[in-house]
Amino acid sequence: MSPEEILREIAAEVSVCTKCDLCKGRTKAVPGEGPPSARILFIGEGPGYHEDKQGRPFVGPAGQFLDELLQSINLKRSDVFITNVVKCRPPNNRDPLPEEISACNDYLDRQIAAIKPLLIVTLGRYSMAKFFGSAKISAIHGKAQKKDGYICMAMYHPAAGLHQASLKETIRQDFKKIPVVLAEAERLAAEGKLGSASSPAANPPEEPPQQLSLF
Ligand code: URA
Ligand code: SF4
Repeated sequence: MSPEEILREIAAEVSVCTKCDLCKGRTKAVPGEGPPSARILFIGEGPGYHEDKQGRPFVGPAGQFLDELLQSINLKRSDVFITNVVKCRPPNNRDPLPEEISACNDYLDRQIAAIKPLLIVTLGRYSMAKFFGSAKISAIHGKAQKKDGYICMAMYHPAAGLHQASLKETIRQDFKKIPVVLAEAERLAAEGKLGSASSPAANPPEEPPQQLSLF
């Protein structure tokens, strides 16, 4: 199956999924969207009110800020893939529970494997935890690191920036690092040094997590 077919299949499964209780309160599941060949994958937390109504990720106020951030580095929404840790809205926008995140994790892993992004940007602490464990966002935001064969960068959630002006500026500054990180990721991929870029059999054993030389 092509990446496009795999992503379409995942979206179809998500739309009727009942693997956790979040299915009970949803209007529409939000599988995520973007081109299968996207070089950047953004992973948020979970759908909010507007996302649940429309079945699309980041279409409310946080999404407007995300659009502005993308624009600031000359990217359009249609250039990137955007998804969430949980695909159905938690009631009253509460935090997703560990069992909901783990029930939904397989969809996210399959999306990552299909897209093979050059850069994964985590938005907020739940997607950060998937790659960075219990690291503190205040310590690691905006710093690219190699994790699971992917270049990953943790950022504050755009919604946090809407409530706090100083964070808004921090997020803006972190976004400006994306083009440089992407160029570095492209170089590593061309040299066959990214696990995601070639067939698993051709890859050397996983290196320990490392800070990119550039940063
Ligand atoms: N916040 C998220 O984490 N994801 C969305 O899709 C919208 C808001
Ligand atoms: Fe299924 Fe994920 Fe929705 Fe839970 S949140 S019902 S696991 S798609």
